[in-house]
Amino acid sequence: MLGLMTTTARLEIGGGKTVELPVRVGSEEEVGLDISSLRAHGGAITLDPSLGNTGACESAITYIDGDQGILRYRGYAIEDLAAHATFPEVCFLLIHGELPTDEERKDFRLSLTRHSLVHEDMKKFFEGFPPSAHPMAILSAMIASLSAYYPGEETPDAIDLNVIRLLAKAKTLAAFSYKKSIGQPFVYPRNDLSYIDNFLQMMFAVPAEPYHVDPVISDALTRLLILHADHEQNCSTTTVRVVCSSQANLFASVSAGVCALWGRLHGGANQAVIEMLEQIQADGANYKKYVELAKKKDSDFRLMGFGHRVYRNFDPRAKILKQSADTVLATLGVRDPLLEMAKRLEEVALADEYFIERKLYPNVDFYSGILYRAMGIPTDMFTVMFALGRLPGWIAHWIEQRNTPGGRILRPRQIYVGENARAWVPLERR
Ligand code: CMC
Repeated sequence: MLGLMTTTARLEIGGGKTVELPVRVGSEEEVGLDISSLRAHGGAITLDPSLGNTGACESAITYIDGDQGILRYRGYAIEDLAAHATFPEVCFLLIHGELPTDEERKDFRLSLTRHSLVHEDMKKFFEGFPPSAHPMAILSAMIASLSAYYPGEETPDAIDLNVIRLLAKAKTLAAFSYKKSIGQPFVYPRNDLSYIDNFLQMMFAVPAEPYHVDPVISDALTRLLILHADHEQNCSTTTVRVVCSSQANLFASVSAGVCALWGRLHGGANQAVIEMLEQIQADGANYKKYVELAKKKDSDFRLMGFGHRVYRNFDPRAKILKQSADTVLATLGVRDPLLEMAKRLEEVALADEYFIERKLYPNVDFYSGILYRAMGIPTDMFTVMFALGRLPGWIAHWIEQRNTPGGRILRPRQIYVGENARAWVPLERR
């Protein structure tokens, strides 16, 4: 790992107890107190309920500077990747650590194409889901089910193959879950198409007529998936690492990540943003009313697509998507009143003292839904799109966690605040 320096810090706990803690400094000068010996030497643990001040690992995958609004995958700026890379290239970069050579790129693409089909028996699973099933429920169940089809010891070669299988098949499973929800026949993958175009044709083609992928949509989707590909130790990635640490297999761990992503404070926010904008629109586009509501601590309304645990500045992904929304909608000739509403709402919120003080800016989910809508992707598939984008990040973290030298099961401690020991009370005396 690049540039890890170690010094020490001294912690006084009280009762004259002092503990020397190694200080780890990362390659971007981030400082972490290594408290792994704190309980053994100081008899205390740290308490950080939402883990906002806790680093649970050292990672060489993604760097975020939340104050400056910087995001890099393996050292490459998100802006450069979004402008120049293909999605499989970014998958390769995150998983293998380097951009692929021409030969590696071709091999990777070929493998992803060859493994796109899902076992025919898996199609039967779809029959068991009600038509109203949320596609995230189907996706997580299907990804977990892949471990039933590809069991066996996870040797390095088997892991490489399962990584390809997961990346290749997840898009097929996602498209099938959409087809199931609208009662259309499944459309099989085609080996002559790129990763993204293949997904689009499985989503939107029907057997009755030819389907041509619109390059504007294909480009926009490529950019969206790249922007979602990793975001260091977010809730779903941490979930994947926690599950991995118990030595659960790749498919089971990633399926858990899909479930963690589903919530509206995380990946589910992209669906929630559109629902919120529709609600504001139906209520006469009174932006101020909703900004006021978001500020009230006794209301459970939050401005969805705003705020971030790490960014205290513009989310660089949101900046790219805002621009992209303008050009993509104009090129497709789509006029979506929700885009104008989103911009107005952003203006009103960014001028408000509450949002300024707390450094709350639009995040990646604020504009992504508007782009998905313009592509014809239904609202309840938005979080599935996020999951498809995040797959390479989850996989890269799963591999990093698994290969951590001396890696132990992730198992936090707690401060117990319940009853002290008390005597058993027989039923007749309760
Ligand atoms: N609307 C109104 N107030 C907010 C919002 C918001 N969207 N976000 C944060 N705040 C307030 C919060 O109430 C708190 O106020 P106070 O200091 O008075 O108690 C302050 O800002 C700090 O927020 P926090 O809740 O401590 O921040 P957090 O790091 O725990 O939560 C968050 C981060 C993303 C869950 C939160 O900002 C939020 O709920 N946003 C809306 C949901 C959303 O857009 N999620 C997508 C996140 S980005 C993509 C992803 O990673 O999935």
